Amino acid sequence: MIWYPMNDPSLGCSSFIVGDSASGEGIVVDPLGAIGVSDYVLAAQDLGITVVEVVETHVHADHASCARELAAALGVSHGLSHRAPAQFPFHKLSEGDVLTVGSVTLTVWETPGHTPDSISLVVRDKRRGDDAWAVLTGDSLFVGDVGRPDLADADPQMIRRASHDQFHSVNRLMALPDFTEVWPAHYGASPCGGLFMDQRTNSTIGYERRYNPFLRIADAETFVEQQQRLLKPQPEEAQKLRAQNLGRSA
Ligand SMILES: [Fe+2]
Repeated sequence: MIWYPMNDPSLGCSSFIVGDSASGEGIVVDPLGAIGVSDYVLAAQDLGITVVEVVETHVHADHASCARELAAALGVSHGLSHRAPAQFPFHKLSEGDVLTVGSVTLTVWETPGHTPDSISLVVRDKRRGDDAWAVLTGDSLFVGDVGRPDLADADPQMIRRASHDQFHSVNRLMALPDFTEVWPAHYGASPCGGLFMDQRTNSTIGYERRYNPFLRIADAETFVEQQQRLLKPQPEEAQKLRAQNLGRSA
């Protein structure tokens, strides 16, 4: 399997190229405007793969995405949750959809909470085995934390509902085997998470199950209260960036 993280430490953002060297195909996940279209194109060339799709785990509000531009430059589709209120044509992804590159598959799990359109991508390599090897959790599950629920809608009732959804989404991910690697879209001091976010870029389901403070909360109401209590200020220009990433402005 080709597994090539491309990070922006200044904002604590992670993006990925996941591919199969035998088939020479790959998928770019959550490409960052700060890295730019040409660097992803060059990275794919260096890896010897043809990119067949660009996918985002959700509509981001903390940074400019370059997914739309990258997909257009490569002439491939841009995958987003069917729930994303984007103003441009995109490949609408739903629960259970499978993106395939050679022996590697990315299965869509809808994991709303951080945003209604949040998805996680469960990664398998059939050449190695049937179990999930890794999961790209977007802003659902972080290392030591979970995604904040207040960037898609500022209404207090909607934030509580989103937090409720997040409780069920991150607990649903715990159905994966303990050895499954967890690779979120953010790390460190990213404003998309809370106070407990770790500097590490990845973890495992088993480690998070045991030590993530939000996964040690057994009931949804306590989880929601804890998230409300610990909310950090919104990222600078969050709504402007979200609108831009939705294609609502230049
Ligand atoms: Fe986010």
